[in-house]
Amino acid sequence: MMIQSRIESIFCEWDDIPEQFRMTTSVEQREYLINGELRSLEGATQEVFSPVCIKSADGLKRHRLGSFPLMTEAESLAVHDAAVAAYDNGRGAWPTMAVSERIRCVQAFASQMKACREEVVCLLMWEIGKTLKDAQKEFDRTTAYIEDTVDALKDLDRISSRFTIVEGIIGQIRRAPLGVTLCMGPYNYPLNECLTTLIPALITGNTTVLKPPRHGVLLFSPLLEAFRDAFPPGVVNTLFGMGHTVVPPLMRSGKIDALAFIGSSKAANSLQKEHPKPHRLRLVLGLEAKNPAIVLPDADLDLAVAECVVGSLSFNGQRCTALKILFVHECIAEEFVALFSTALATLGAGLPWEPGVMITPLPDQEKPNYLTELVENAKKFGAKVMNDEGGRVNNSFFYPALLYPVNDKMRVYQEEQFGPVIPIVPFNEIETPIRYIEESAYGQQVSIFGRDPQDIAKLIDHLVNQVSRINLNSQCQRGPDVFPFTGRKDSAVGTLSVSDALRAFSIRAIVAAKEFDLNKQIISDITREHRSNFLSTDFIL
Ligand code: G3H
Repeated sequence: MMIQSRIESIFCEWDDIPEQFRMTTSVEQREYLINGELRSLEGATQEVFSPVCIKSADGLKRHRLGSFPLMTEAESLAVHDAAVAAYDNGRGAWPTMAVSERIRCVQAFASQMKACREEVVCLLMWEIGKTLKDAQKEFDRTTAYIEDTVDALKDLDRISSRFTIVEGIIGQIRRAPLGVTLCMGPYNYPLNECLTTLIPALITGNTTVLKPPRHGVLLFSPLLEAFRDAFPPGVVNTLFGMGHTVVPPLMRSGKIDALAFIGSSKAANSLQKEHPKPHRLRLVLGLEAKNPAIVLPDADLDLAVAECVVGSLSFNGQRCTALKILFVHECIAEEFVALFSTALATLGAGLPWEPGVMITPLPDQEKPNYLTELVENAKKFGAKVMNDEGGRVNNSFFYPALLYPVNDKMRVYQEEQFGPVIPIVPFNEIETPIRYIEESAYGQQVSIFGRDPQDIAKLIDHLVNQVSRINLNSQCQRGPDVFPFTGRKDSAVGTLSVSDALRAFSIRAIVAAKEFDLNKQIISDITREHRSNFLSTDFIL
């Protein structure tokens, strides 16, 4: 089918959607989790519409998926109070519980969560337009992350189960929780990036408040019961509503001890500023990025194009790790552009459940207009759309636009497009992409495509001091999840990985005692009689 007619016929009638993927009942969510109870709210609600439009006699309409409560400031503060009370200044049952018990709760949650796979995957497709394959991957990657977190905590705990004696002082060093943690994830990985901060925060003994992102809210509704059943009251609490209403009051109270936020640096800055005691607030932030690819003259072009296509267009480019600007040496730029454009023509575009699709409708209603503005602005400064139908819009669907040649006058040179626009900058001197990286506000990752070990080594030695991951002949990405995921400058605060996240949400605490008989007797008695969950030689198997 011609690309134009494919774009025009991307949306179908309700009856043309395969039965197993139809959302026949809407999710009218009213419940939220507070102090171990699912309570209902009767106030204002927010309707949720899918990026997937349905064809009807009145034209195309975004399909209505349901609604969720818009909490008031007072309601959100009550949710927060439940987490504060459960922590109880570190005296609560959860922060003082044995690690092995907390592990059991997390495992109970994981097994209940697994039973919700089909429902959550379906909601991921409908709410944010993620393809079936990627939605399944997000779910499975998250449950694997939880299992790996349990293993990593067991390892950490085993190392801490011993005493150290130095200079006549006996010490036991373990990790202790920080307090009340607020977890906020982004709409591109609503499940994964909420739970990969929430679970490490929980398992290390913090009590939590979870605020789902602006798109990808309803998919949490099947999980609320699992949270309620698996954890003691007040340990997991949920906020629903507009971020600007429900979150600042919590920060202003000064009773948030750790903020895990994946989103924009602007929002993170303003939340941080609301906290009256900023030094008491541990920040774990994943922020913007504008990861470049540098394609050197000797690069394997087929490989570079294949990696840059997935790097820039997986989930329509809506990944913080996406390749968002491609610097291609001018001696190969035209060939690269031609190959890229051919590759684009073969990409599946369609609805999330259609086999083989990669390009799907966008959840952010403003995004097609914004991307069109970027394309128009680039055209004004001399770029052309190099692929057939690039930038064509059909309601919430935006067909990828390959822009070439891009220069520093264009908005897309600096702005994080977070969508399917691929800017290609031809360069002659390697200093051009290097200076771009040095002057960038961001410092997450880079991809280098080339063959010469000498040239690549030189770039590595410089760029490791500018970004946090250098990908050789490979797209940028977060995984595998045991690798550290972080960034410099405005791209991140703190490091996440299965094991780093455990550290991010905890602090080391020591019980130390001068080595004389009274202390030895006390320590022996406490450990022998299992009187303490902290001062303990118990070894988790
Ligand atoms: O949006 C940012 C995600 O953490 C990226 O993860 O590279 O696995 O897609 P990914």
